[in-house]
Amino acid sequence: MSRQKKRRPVARPNRPTVPAAQPPQSKRRPISTAVWVVVAVTVVIGTLVGLGLAEEGPVPVERDQAVVAAGGELFGASCAVCHGPDLRGSQTGPPLLVPTYAPNHHGDEAFQRAVEFGVPTHHWNFGDMAPVAGLSRDDVSQIVAYVRTMQEAEGIFRDPTH
Ligand code: HEC
Repeated sequence: MSRQKKRRPVARPNRPTVPAAQPPQSKRRPISTAVWVVVAVTVVIGTLVGLGLAEEGPVPVERDQAVVAAGGELFGASCAVCHGPDLRGSQTGPPLLVPTYAPNHHGDEAFQRAVEFGVPTHHWNFGDMAPVAGLSRDDVSQIVAYVRTMQEAEGIFRDPTH
């Protein structure tokens, strides 16, 4: 086949060389379904990954083990008689391994104040907690480090009702 033959304009009225009038195509092509599928899948996966991370939950704070151990000693000597040697309470005081005493409800300063000024009874029916003598703020900070470590080991990070 020669090139000439191909190029020759064909004048056949029934079969126009120019394609018959087509609906004018808009210049902005609609976003194809495939693109929407990709977007939707990305959003779903992103959400699932986000939820997965959220489900991992809070991570225990890394604390100086010597401080935690010292706090445990002090707790045993000054607090365990009422709050229990395992922090689970006794006949004379409440457990501290409950969400009520999580940091967002009873922050570290609440421990300082409890030791220094005592606690008028309000959450339980054990009566008031008297101030505990002979402990410095630093001692109480060590006790708090111990209590928080034990709370976190118990999965207590915050009081959801507070
Ligand atoms: C003689 C018993 C007793 C001893 C000893 C004791 N507590 Fe308590 N403590 C209580 C009682 C009872 C309550 C609960 C008061 C209430 O809310 O009804 C309490 C409550 C608390 C609270 C909650 C404070 C608040 O704001 O509600 C903290 C914190 C606390 N104690 C820490 C300590 C620490 C730390 C020690 C040791 C240094 C200690 N307690 C020693 C009896 C005691």
